[in-house]
Amino acid sequence: MSECIKNVNANGTNLSIPPMKVAIIGGGLVGSLAALNFARNGHNVHLYEYREDIRTAELVQGRSINLALSQRGRKALSSVGLEEEVLATAIPMRGRMLHDIKGRTSVVLYDPCTNECLYSVGRKHLNEILLNAGEKFPNIHYHFEHKLKKANFNEGSMSFQRPYEEKDAVATADLIVGADGAFSAVRQQMSKTLGFNYSQEYIEHGYLELCIPAKNDEFQMPPNYLHIWPRNEFMMIALPNQDKSFTVTLSMPFKVFQGIQSHQELLDFFRKYYTDALPLIGEEMLIKDFFKSKPQFLLSIKCNPFHYGDKALLLGDAAHAMVPYYGQGMNAGMEDCSIFFSILHQPHITLARALEQFTETRVQDAHAICDLAMYNYVEMRDLTKRFSFKCRKFLDTTLFRFFPSVWVPLYNSVSFTSMPYSKCIANREWQDEILKKVFGATLFFALTLSGAFIYVNNM
Ligand SMILES: Cc1cc2nc3c(=O)[nH]c(=O)nc-3n(C[C@H](O)[C@H](O)[C@H](O)COP(=O)(O)OP(=O)(O)OC[C@H]3O[C@@H](n4cnc5c(N)ncnc54)[C@H](O)[C@@H]3O)c2cc1C
Ligand SMILES: *[C@@H]1O[C@H](CO)[C@@H](O)[C@H](O)[C@H]1NC(C)=O
Repeated sequence: MSECIKNVNANGTNLSIPPMKVAIIGGGLVGSLAALNFARNGHNVHLYEYREDIRTAELVQGRSINLALSQRGRKALSSVGLEEEVLATAIPMRGRMLHDIKGRTSVVLYDPCTNECLYSVGRKHLNEILLNAGEKFPNIHYHFEHKLKKANFNEGSMSFQRPYEEKDAVATADLIVGADGAFSAVRQQMSKTLGFNYSQEYIEHGYLELCIPAKNDEFQMPPNYLHIWPRNEFMMIALPNQDKSFTVTLSMPFKVFQGIQSHQELLDFFRKYYTDALPLIGEEMLIKDFFKSKPQFLLSIKCNPFHYGDKALLLGDAAHAMVPYYGQGMNAGMEDCSIFFSILHQPHITLARALEQFTETRVQDAHAICDLAMYNYVEMRDLTKRFSFKCRKFLDTTLFRFFPSVWVPLYNSVSFTSMPYSKCIANREWQDEILKKVFGATLFFALTLSGAFIYVNNM
């Protein structure tokens, strides 16, 4: 009887795996979410984070101040009861607002049929919500300023470097979870095991963050859009913040960054390419922010498997880092949690089998979203401006309107459903086939052409 009670969690879910000691490496968005999930399943969780506690730190460095949250992330937050709290301070973005080179804008809604939208959330705020939620569990223990240096999976032993201590801290666990981001130390350890495939690819673009501040306590641009300045070789985007500012991300080849050395060159560059954004950012602020920091690198990482025996597991960027152009990195990492814990809830499953099953079901989808993000790297800065893109968008939207359960466009299936990423791609290929078959090459062209005229005229 007591055995029975012990293995049923708060939701009444049947738990096949008896309580164990879980070490989570990395207290970012995915690690802190995974901690909540393990704790809800009755496990004893120790979370080790390299940085100091961001909730009390004075200055938090890190990438992108805000992120686009969509369906997959929302679902994972909802399963730990935090979706509402997160959405309460998030800013909905109903579509893309495109800024052309002359400063004219046009809107492409994400979903004119059912009005789905993305939500701009602050990274720090979201991380704080997740960490605070963990404080309520007596079985979650936080260890900040612990940097994993070594792990022995078979022994379940780890050693951590601490900033003010000479001696490393050591610890043991039954399961070691690597949620330590793109440069994962846990993955590095896993890469030494036999049969582990791994690839990484840096793209030639880097990114730099700028800011469009609030003016008279108001947004300087319409807030409910993801703003995009597509310029072929480079691109700028802006997401709204709660304080009525926008975080602007300028993305371009490193050689273009290097070509801008003086204040005058920078201002000339912005006058030429981002003429409408320049007065919003402000010349002084632009110069300060641009020369303050170096452009950051972006990389894509794939690996397989995501686990080692019944000893170690990779989640989030540690398992699959991607270029940020689909806005899915965090969403995919959070979805890893949804998928792993639904596997863990299967009756009679063992930990070894659960980890194996996670790799089996997740690897191909992780690789698929890495590929899609790479594809959007081109699409966002280039295709969004193109006539053919607008044609396809028109056709997709029309078909979606009439056949909402059959014809879900690619962007929508990725952002607004939980369809496995690899199926989103297969779905798109199937749609391409149909369009070709139904319309034939010529008619298809004529139709999209006329359709696009209607579409463009309607904007
Ligand atoms: C410019 C940019 C824009 C983005 N925009 C979006 C977006 O709009 N939507 C979206 O869904 N995703 C976006 N992403 C992706 C998103 O940021 C990541 O996918 C997400 O942060 C992954 O979370 P994570 O917890 O796996 O890794 P991280 O956020 O990298 O967290 C890893 C944590 O592990 C800690 N750590 C690292 N090494 C160690 C160690 N050895 N020991 C202990 N701790 C360690 C780190 O300090 C960190 O706190 C964007 C990324 C970039 C770069
Ligand atoms: C590793 O890559 C090779 C070559 O692509 C492939 O045949 C093999 O199945 C992969 N192994 C794993 C574990 O992914």
